[in-house]
Amino acid sequence: EHTADDDTRRILLASPRSFCAGVERAIEIVERALRSYTPPIYVRKEIVHNSYVVDDLASKGAVFVEELDEVPDGATLVFSAHGVSPAVREEADRKNLDVIDGTCPLVSKVHAKARRFAARGDTVVLFGHSGHEEIEGTYGEAPESTVLVESADEVADLSVPDPDRVSYLTQTTLAVDETNDFVRELREKYPNVSEPASEDICYATTNRQHALNEVIAESDLVLVVGSTNSSNSVRLVEISRRQGTPAELIDGAEDITAEWLDGVRTIGVTAGASAPPKLVDEVVEALRGFGPATVAEREFTHETMHFELPSVLRGAGEGAA
Ligand code: F3S
Repeated sequence: EHTADDDTRRILLASPRSFCAGVERAIEIVERALRSYTPPIYVRKEIVHNSYVVDDLASKGAVFVEELDEVPDGATLVFSAHGVSPAVREEADRKNLDVIDGTCPLVSKVHAKARRFAARGDTVVLFGHSGHEEIEGTYGEAPESTVLVESADEVADLSVPDPDRVSYLTQTTLAVDETNDFVRELREKYPNVSEPASEDICYATTNRQHALNEVIAESDLVLVVGSTNSSNSVRLVEISRRQGTPAELIDGAEDITAEWLDGVRTIGVTAGASAPPKLVDEVVEALRGFGPATVAEREFTHETMHFELPSVLRGAGEGAA
């Protein structure tokens, strides 16, 4: 590709980027609940880790809470896409809440594995970020059998009751390369570690990383649209920086700083799985405001994943948009 003249910048959009099927489903759950249930509709934690999405749903009437003690008995409550521990489900039962589960089906799968591994007597080594809601939920499935590891280096210091009964799980939104390092270390330390039937890093996380890899080398700067608490978005920034291309995490167009663009000819743009496509459009428009630019897309793959809504909401609220 040749640019029209020396001042023309090139914007390279990585594809896939932005919403995944789990995020689309979680947002749709809250929107349908708002339309077809008696308000207020409570949501435990951010439904997805994106400040724009949360503000938008709050403006439509959703009431976001941190914990269940903020929710009156008998109210309607949505669990976020990141999932919850059994302890939270039990508390919701005790409070007689009408629960609508926004947990991504791919997170639920990891929970099911945690239960299975723990039940057969394994120590479950869980690779992920302490304090992240998904990890709190997965860990909570079998806290007495689970050890959390946050970096591959920590594997060396692990000690487990029976080195022949070890299995592992990971957060769904990790960097593929870092997770490979973790698995390599773990296999070295525990040669009999059980291999999972499938990877826990989800298709959307994997695809966004592969798509970004296709634009990193060509880019002088990478912009990742996403919020700071979005794990998969932060990984995209780290992956770019590890490969030597400066990268910035932005919530939206308003965060772009003119100095970042000094001497920059090609800008790679992507977005985490919780960031709305609309915000990416606004970022491209804002970049054009800094001077002439061409826009091209690099498609790694085309996603067709779709998750069914919970049965209580199917058909609910249609046509009321
Ligand atoms: Fe689910 Fe992966 Fe999205 S676990 S919520 S599909 S980032």
